[in-house]
Amino acid sequence: MCGIIGYVGTRPCRDILFRGLRKLEYRGYDSAGISIIDGGRFKLLHSVGNLDNLEARLSELDGEGTVGIAHTRWATHGRPSNENAHPHTDCSGRFAIVLNGIVENYLSLRSQLQQEGHEFTSETDAEVVAHLIERAYRGSLRDAVAEAFRQMEGHFTYCAVAVEEPEVIVAVRKETPLVVGLGEGENYVASAIPAFLSETRRVIFPEDAEVVVVTRDSVEITSLAGDTVSRSPQIVDWDEEAAEKAGYETFMLKEIHEQPVALADTLAERVGPDGRVILEGLGLSFEALRSLRQVNIVACGTSYHAGLVGKYALERWARLPVEVEVASEFRYRDPVIGPGSLCLAISQSGETADTLAAMRLAREAGAHVVAVTNIVGSQATREAHGVLFTRAGLEIGVAATKTFLAQVMAMLLLALYVGQERGHLATEDVRGFTEELRRIPGLLRDYLEEGAAGRVEQVARRHTNSRFFLCLGRNISLPVALEGALKLKEISYIPTDAYAAGEMKHGPIALLEEGSPVLVVATDSCVYDKLISNVQEVKARGASVIAVASEGNVGLTDMAEEIFYVPRTHEMLSPLLSVVPLQLFAYYVAKHKGEKVDQPRNLAKTVTVE
Ligand code: G6P
Repeated sequence: MCGIIGYVGTRPCRDILFRGLRKLEYRGYDSAGISIIDGGRFKLLHSVGNLDNLEARLSELDGEGTVGIAHTRWATHGRPSNENAHPHTDCSGRFAIVLNGIVENYLSLRSQLQQEGHEFTSETDAEVVAHLIERAYRGSLRDAVAEAFRQMEGHFTYCAVAVEEPEVIVAVRKETPLVVGLGEGENYVASAIPAFLSETRRVIFPEDAEVVVVTRDSVEITSLAGDTVSRSPQIVDWDEEAAEKAGYETFMLKEIHEQPVALADTLAERVGPDGRVILEGLGLSFEALRSLRQVNIVACGTSYHAGLVGKYALERWARLPVEVEVASEFRYRDPVIGPGSLCLAISQSGETADTLAAMRLAREAGAHVVAVTNIVGSQATREAHGVLFTRAGLEIGVAATKTFLAQVMAMLLLALYVGQERGHLATEDVRGFTEELRRIPGLLRDYLEEGAAGRVEQVARRHTNSRFFLCLGRNISLPVALEGALKLKEISYIPTDAYAAGEMKHGPIALLEEGSPVLVVATDSCVYDKLISNVQEVKARGASVIAVASEGNVGLTDMAEEIFYVPRTHEMLSPLLSVVPLQLFAYYVAKHKGEKVDQPRNLAKTVTVE
């Protein structure tokens, strides 16, 4: 959370920094600010709210300054306000910093600094960094940044500039992202590649506790002690257009429509000519796979729901006991995990603090840890024994859609792979499933191209005034119901509960009254008849049923007010299709309520705080 960018070059940098912030806005949008060195002093601009507010005031920041840093904030310490917006400066006004993450010992540092006479102007944890640098500065910004780092606890990335060294940016990271972009006669530092993707594709990923000194012609990386570190640049092949809306009204709608490609890319080259699954990079030998005793899946938010799909698939196909848990709970339990356990950490960003902590715990206990992530070079990839990449491309909408589908695809592939390698699935069974998996991107493309969105929109429009939704599913459709409910909560703000349909009569059925909308995931499955009984139970309480059903199912027409038909497939693969009308439903309810779909209140796409 929070996005930072710094530029040092020869071009006036105000607009370059602002454009970079735009690409990072998904990381937080409570307030924003820019600091540029010009004429031997800082020019600073702060604003509250999202970047439109900063943009409206950009002209206040005139001048030709060619070195600067900027920040878009997701508030942790201190409410969104001008005072709490970054960049922060020290007492003397000679140093400015931007920070992403949390300085956990900021209270003790702050009181120490205050006792020494430092005056604070914000409530943030980040401001201590500016004062620590001020205190440590002896003519070298690099050394002062390193000294501040030594005193700080927590997880953070920060960039600093000094008026006395007007051609330098110094940056350092600890467990949160930092990437350096290499241009011609100019260089960048940022939280994520999209910030400078329109300018350069040559990047360096510094590691924790490496101090990065960037000038327009050089990037020098040293250890905290000052030893030179050499890191080769990598070329990223990301598509810049992916960071634009390409004619869609929002990123979320665009990303929903990109799901067929995300699925096809995640599947590509992972099925051999014989139909067997090929997964490389897991770091698991054949023997290690055979001696697995259990699987522990850890994740947060939408990724947790992909993990639940993984549980159904791994248990059915690989016959391994699987536990799925939200990372923030797992990390503070005393989980029974160790050698013989496979820990799957699912995180689209690869940065989520709780998921990273859960991975470390599993690793220390002796488990084999595999990160399932969408971001090359992310922290999760560095901390895992193996990686399974989803290939959904850049996702900007805060409410995850295409990364979820890609995670589900990855889980299904992994479950087939483990089942096949452990001898629980015959080659012809694996082939049957992989052939069906290959059909799914095309089925989904046709579904979307044939006007699915418009049909869902018509129904959604009638529900903008609903006060409550209940989502029901059973078996592998339960995670789909949970994910549909999460989308509704995240972007429409309408209270929504999701429940296992068979459990609903033990509580949530009491919430139903005449006309209450109940969304039921009722695609073909081994528990379809049981689910229909549950539909009857909610109907009997006056609920209005909106069903997601397999194409051609006529049995539901008397029971459901609305039916969203999706293409038929095997029930184990059905989440790849059945979740899509629920994503669209949430999208259009939110849109017609007038909500900001791409920037839901209080949320951030990447949660690097506990
Ligand atoms: C935040 C986002 C969610 C996401 C969750 C986990 O809450 O708003 O969309 O599912 O973090 O993120 P991760 O990057 O670990 O998958």
